[in-house]
Order: sequence, then structure tokens, then C-alpha cells
Amino acid sequence: MGVSVLSIIYIIGAVTFIAGLKMMSDPASARKGNIIAGLGMLAAIIGTIFLYQNEDGSLLKNHIWIFGGILIGSVIGVLAAKKVKMTAMPEMVSLFNGLGGASATLISLVEFNHLSDLNFPAESATPGIMAILFAGIILGNITFSGSMIAWGKLSGRVKDFAFKGQHILNILLLVISIALSVYITSNLQGANTTILFYTVFLLSLVYGIFFVFPIGGADMPVVISLLNSLSGLSAACGGFLYDNKVVFTGGILVGAAGTILTVLMCKAMNRSLTNVLIGSFGGSKAAGDKKEQGSYKEISLNDSAVVMSYASKVMIVPGYGLAVAQAQHTCHELQKMLEAKGVEIKYAIHPVAGRMPGHMNVLLAEADVSYDKLIEMEQANEEFPAVDVVLILGANDVVNPAAKSDPSSPIYGMPILDVGLAKNVIVVKRSMKPGYAGIENDLFFQPKTSMLFGDAKKVLQDLVGEIKSL
Ligand code: TAP
Repeated sequence: MGVSVLSIIYIIGAVTFIAGLKMMSDPASARKGNIIAGLGMLAAIIGTIFLYQNEDGSLLKNHIWIFGGILIGSVIGVLAAKKVKMTAMPEMVSLFNGLGGASATLISLVEFNHLSDLNFPAESATPGIMAILFAGIILGNITFSGSMIAWGKLSGRVKDFAFKGQHILNILLLVISIALSVYITSNLQGANTTILFYTVFLLSLVYGIFFVFPIGGADMPVVISLLNSLSGLSAACGGFLYDNKVVFTGGILVGAAGTILTVLMCKAMNRSLTNVLIGSFGGSKAAGDKKEQGSYKEISLNDSAVVMSYASKVMIVPGYGLAVAQAQHTCHELQKMLEAKGVEIKYAIHPVAGRMPGHMNVLLAEADVSYDKLIEMEQANEEFPAVDVVLILGANDVVNPAAKSDPSSPIYGMPILDVGLAKNVIVVKRSMKPGYAGIENDLFFQPKTSMLFGDAKKVLQDLVGEIKSL
């Protein structure tokens, strides 16, 4: 009876994941989708604790340990999520990915020790089970250590690091880990099985570190989506090992969604997935390189307000600085004010603007900016020639022409928003400092471009005031 009820709960859980994921594709239903999937997971956890039956038919007993762990984890999770600043969300997502990977590794570790204690009985330690177990260890470890480095990089604590021959070392680490896994699986009772198992453990952990370390500049989005996908696949291994359909379905959904996102990010950045896997692109080789840039011109608040108010079409390009300034609501106010004057407003969204996939979409949705005002990069680039004013709000790398014109630049090859095609460009930022990739931006020195210095929120508030008084 318990088992069949549990199976039904698992099916309901899996259905809520799929429905929740579908609802997350639209900002209007995303919050509800998250809650529905969360409730499905809660039902699956409670059902497992009270209804799961061991092989001898007994129920789980360690309730104090289980609820103690859930309580500690929940308190830390809720406090961290409440405290985290919106701008630190990408780091938090990296930590979550890493912890997902670590959980998958722990499951494989426990199961290996369990099978090892039983001397690897043929009916349990089948080649299929051992392959899944090693996949869990390797994927889980790469996700964990890679995500920790990604977290350090996103929070500015860890710098890019590369050395000669790093790609070769990365390939070797991965190949040896896989080869050892195959060897152990075919020699399960061998004398050195445990030592070799922990060697795989260590090598995959080191690979995770070395594969993320050199990737720098603007290329982090690809790595982040790849780690997200690996966290799902490693969780699916855990679900497979325990024959737990809800963990398996959840893992596969995250893995599949992450893989699609990785492919989209590779396309958005014009990078190859093979290069990501061996950690061989980006880097900060040109970061900090200085060349003569000429001079830039500034524009006053009043002039900016006039130019925009009398324009027929204004394209807003949001970037990471808009999120830092938390200026999305004021930006929406400016949009409504200009629209009331008959100006057509659209938002040009670069796929890697900000610090996490969909960052700008989430940010603008928070301020109730209508989704149909947002257009993707390709469409924006087609529309720029008919745009009177491009208003860049805290964006830098995603509008840097070096991506098209300077083969020595670390962002070379990355498609950008071609704002230079428009008639006028106004850039709102606090200084001439570079963006995430750490490189100068020629756009700021071009004749069509004017700089409007200041914190994005303050500048937008002042602009709204100026336009009101026109
Ligand atoms: P960035 O190139 O990072 O530029 C942001 C700009 O915002 C900076 O130049 C900064 O200049 C300005 N800024 C910061 N705070 C501000 C404030 N309060 N008010 C006004 N301006 C402010 O941003 P982007 O153009 O959005 O490009 C994103 C970059 O991050 C890309 O290189 C991308 O590859 C990388 N990245 C993206 C992701 C994902 S998944 N999206 C993940 C990791 C890394 P000042 O300091 O002069 O104000």
C-alpha cells in the first residue's frame, strides 16, 4: 500500500516539475511555476521519509537525523536567500549548482562503500550500476569544484589563472578518470580497487578546478550554464542508483534544460563546446591592455532629456550596471513618460548581459516592463539603423565593438549589440572603467557616442525630472 501511494506521489512530483518548468518560460507565471515544482518536491521528500520501505519491508527510522538535517539546511537556505542582494544572485546560483554536485558525489561515495563492504556482489554491482556510480562521482565532483571556482570568479575573489599546457593537462585528467573508472568496473575485486576509486575522486575534483580557472573575460556564461547542466545530470545518476524516479526526472530536466542553455550560450558567444570542456578560451590575456583611445564627449541631463523626448524611436540597452543600481523601476517610469510623449521605446536584450542567463529579462519583469517591449539581439541589430537614440544603462562588454574588430581581444568573435548603427548613443555609467571582461571600449570614444556619468538610478531619476519639466 505504502509503496503504491509513494509511486503516485513520485509521479505527481515529476508532473509538477514539468509543469513548473513550462510555467517558468514566462515571467508572468514563473513565480507560480517555482512554487508548484517546490510543492511537488516537498511531497516527494515527505512521502519518501514516511512511506519508503527497505528491502525487508521496514520503514525509514532515522527521523531525528533526517529532520535535523532538513531543519539546519532549511534555516541556512532561507536566511541566505533572504539576505542575498539581487546582484549577488549569480554567485548564489553557482553555490547551489556546486552543492547539487556535491550531493550527487556523496550518494555515489556511500553506494561505493556499501557495495565494497558487501564485496561487490554480482547481482548489485553490475557494470551498468558501476558506470552510473562513476558518472555520479565524476560529474558531481566537476560540478562541485568547478562551481566553487565560478563562485569565486563571479564574486571577484578568484582571478583567471592559466599556464602553458593547461589544455593538455585538462584532457589528461578527464581521460585518466574515465579510463580508471572503466578499469575498476572490470576488476571490482582487485587489490587496489579502493585506492583507484579515490584516485578517480581526486582527479575529477582537480579537473573541475582547472577547467574553470582559465576561462575568463566574457566567457563565464557558457561555463555557468554547463555546470548547471552537469549538476542536473549528476543528480539524475543519484536517482538512477536509488531507483528514485522523482530525483531521476528532476535531474534529467535540469540536465536537459542546462544543455539547451549551454548550446544557446555557445551560439550567443560564438564559442565551441569542445573548447569549453578543455578550458581553452577567453582568459584575460588582453585585459588591462591599454592603447590610445582619443577623447570622449559628455552630455548634460537636460540635453539627454531633450534628445530623447523629441526622438521617434529610443532603444534602451540594459546591462549589469542597471542591476547594480537597482534602477529597473525608474527605468520603467522613464519608458512610460517617453511613451506618453509619443516616443516608441524598446529594450535590446543581449543573451549574456548581466551575470546570469536571463538576468535582464528577470530584472525588467520585476519592474513590470511588458515582455513584448523586449527584443533579442538579432532583431535589435536589424532595428538599430532606424533608432534615433540608444540609451545604454550600465552595459559595456555587450556593446564593445572590439568583439568584431580586434582579433587580439578576449571577447573577439562574440556577437554584440551593434549600437553604432543608430543615430545617437548615450551611455550611462559611473566612470570610464571597463566591464566584466576588463577591456577598454572604443564605443565610448566614437563621434556618435555621448557619456552621461553617474549611478544609473540617480541619472534615471534626474532624467525623469528633466523630462517632466520640458
Ligand atoms: P559589464 O560589461 O560587466 O559592464 C557593466 C558596466 O556597468 C560597467 O562598465 C560599470 O561601469 C557599469 N556600472 C556598474 N554599476 C553601475 C551603476 N550603479 N550605475 C551605472 N553603471 C554601473 O556588463 P554587461 O555589458 O551587461 O556584460 C555582461 C558581462 O558579464 C559580459 O562580459 C558577460 O560575458 C559577463 N558574464 C555574464 C554572465 C551571464 S550568464 N549573463 C555570467 C558571468 C559573466 P562603471 O563602473 O564605470 O559604472
